[in-house]
Amino acid sequence: MNSKSILVTGGAGFIGSHLVRLFVNKYPNYNIVNLDKLTYAGNLANLTDIENAPNYEFIKGDIVDADFIHQLFQKYQFDAVIHLAAESHVDRSIASPMDFIMTNIVGTANLLNAAKATWTDLSSKLFYHVSTDEVYGSLGSEGMFEETTSYDPRSPYSASKASSDHLVRAYFHTYGLPIVISNCSNNYGSHQFPEKLIPLFIHNIKNNKSLPVYGKGENIRDWLWVEDHARAIDVIFHQVKIGETYNIGGHNEWKNIDLIKVICKVMDKKLNREAGTSEKLITYVKDRAGHDMRYAIDASKLQNELGWKPSLQFEEGIEKTIDWYLNNEEWLNNVTSGAYQNYYEQQYEKR
Ligand code: NAD
Ligand code: TYD
Repeated sequence: MNSKSILVTGGAGFIGSHLVRLFVNKYPNYNIVNLDKLTYAGNLANLTDIENAPNYEFIKGDIVDADFIHQLFQKYQFDAVIHLAAESHVDRSIASPMDFIMTNIVGTANLLNAAKATWTDLSSKLFYHVSTDEVYGSLGSEGMFEETTSYDPRSPYSASKASSDHLVRAYFHTYGLPIVISNCSNNYGSHQFPEKLIPLFIHNIKNNKSLPVYGKGENIRDWLWVEDHARAIDVIFHQVKIGETYNIGGHNEWKNIDLIKVICKVMDKKLNREAGTSEKLITYVKDRAGHDMRYAIDASKLQNELGWKPSLQFEEGIEKTIDWYLNNEEWLNNVTSGAYQNYYEQQYEKR
């Protein structure tokens, strides 16, 4: 394998940390530079196992700072970028859309501009943009998102990601920048900040706090084991067809309330609580504004063209995930102290 200098943005976050770990361990002759602002969602404790690896470097910085990004590209002469840095939580995007517009749109544009300005020989370069299935909007009870599905984003988060996808494609068509995009369904697994459904509910059950189910709990998401997402990025990165888009998904649709009941059942077992104890914490609350009804990904292009498929059954994945949060109390306590408490108290007061 040739040596490469790769910039990973957002590598201290949930998916980014799994990707950085995979690349640092699997490709010793790649130099991985992890650029992360360390927002509330970024955490270097996610990467302690590889922090001293000789092919790994962390840089704290903000992708919204165009001058800084330009200088970084000049200094490191990256061969490739894998761009994950983003504001990623839909509820926060409803409360504060501008953070999403700055990081997800302006930040992506800054990276594209820096690549365009510093990459002279484009033949060996790659700008890999990591995106979400939420750009496609909301499904009814039938059908799945395909790569050709029209964009129809409905939250400030998904609109900002759709906008960044459009910019990435525009730089390919207009300037010939070598890009690839993947759009993935909901991820679950270790090291996810406990504001998203699965880690939040594990955390709340552990602490006997209520489980706020939005609306009737009938919305459907397609859940994928985060390490399978990292593996998919690896496969697409190494068998790249420039300008392509790939959908990544778990073929694993769950109605929220059914998924929550599975979490409750496993948590009762793990915490040696009487069956049914955790379910009593379920509280139906006001629905999320503009709540997308259903997401489902058709990942057959990735499977047929590049041979990727999910490796883990959901029942096994959810148990592993719950075990990780229960066995990593210090991590959970650290990320849920301070500002986190204030944020959640405000959220609960609003309901
Ligand atoms: P995350 O919120 O856990 O991590 C985001 C990371 O980006 C954090 O480490 C944060 O510090 C960093 N960051 C934020 N703003 C930054 C800035 N201005 N400059 C530099 N770094 C900044 O998110 P995640 O769940 O790991 O998602 C990673 C990517 O994958 C995002 O682009 C997201 O849209 C996409 N995605 C996520 C999911 C999912 O289910 N979580 C599914 C599909 C796609
Ligand atoms: P989330 O993990 O925020 O991911 P996304 O909105 O990006 O799909 O939410 C997953 C589903 O769970 C979504 O339908 C909203 C719902 N949900 C709740 O019912 N209660 C909660 O407290 C949260 C965070 C989410």
